[in-house]
Amino acid sequence: MRALTLEAVRKVYGKGDGAVTALDGVSVGVRKGSFTAVMGPSGSGKSTFLHCAAGLDKPTSGRVLLGDTDLAAMNENALTRLRRERVGFIFQAYNLLPSLTVAQNIGLPLRLAGKRADQGWLRDVVNRVGIAGRMGHRPAELSGGQQQRVAIARALAARPEVVLADEPTGALDSRTGAQVLELLRTLVDALGQTVLMVTHDPVAASYAHSVLFLADGRLAGSLDRPDPAAVAERMTHLGEW
Ligand SMILES: Nc1ncnc2c1ncn2[C@@H]1O[C@H](COP(=O)(O)OP(=O)(O)OP(=O)(O)O)[C@@H](O)[C@H]1O
Ligand SMILES: [Mg+2]
Repeated sequence: MRALTLEAVRKVYGKGDGAVTALDGVSVGVRKGSFTAVMGPSGSGKSTFLHCAAGLDKPTSGRVLLGDTDLAAMNENALTRLRRERVGFIFQAYNLLPSLTVAQNIGLPLRLAGKRADQGWLRDVVNRVGIAGRMGHRPAELSGGQQQRVAIARALAARPEVVLADEPTGALDSRTGAQVLELLRTLVDALGQTVLMVTHDPVAASYAHSVLFLADGRLAGSLDRPDPAAVAERMTHLGEW
């Protein structure tokens, strides 16, 4: 059962002499209920990979499928709806709205989608991320780790088919980061969520079930049940990072 499939995805930015091939024929299947880290040197195509997976960027060639849905067949409106209802996003910088309460932030994607929250699911998510007592607070009243927990609850509110995270612990100290990674792993193992996470950090990657390595826009191997030392060793062979 696949949550996400990339088939021979190529992404070329620009034209002629200035053209940059950011992804060069990447084929990946992401299993439902898996936690996958994506690593690679700077410029290897990680963000482009995530953007193509989210329908934020269109591949030059190849296909991206969310479940059975081919993103190439969708127009901008349909893609926007798909991102609100079927994909969750977690960013390095949390991206919470400062004027809204925690509860309002969490509910925002659903409101924008004009959808009712599944209250039972929402309660479960809020309890698991550990912010049940903070629902009436504003983001500025929370620590960085708590803000990222709110962002995680927001990403999960619509019960998405895949959660995409770009350096979700990049702004956190290592202890708080570890708690957030532990939480992501729990959401995968206990709630059956599917998480794809870009990271530079071998320790962060070790929380995932497997790691995909990118180099020069191509898949350069993978590692199951990664430990930090093995991940760091692979990265060293892929170049600067
Ligand atoms: N909008 C764009 N226009 C032109 N080139 C781009 C664009 N976006 C990315 N690129 C190029 O595509 C390549 C891959 O970029 P990408 O941002 O995916 O790398 P990355 O692995 O996320 O790097 P980092 O670790 O530094 O975030 C790079 O050479 C980059 O310069
Ligand atoms: Mg990037």
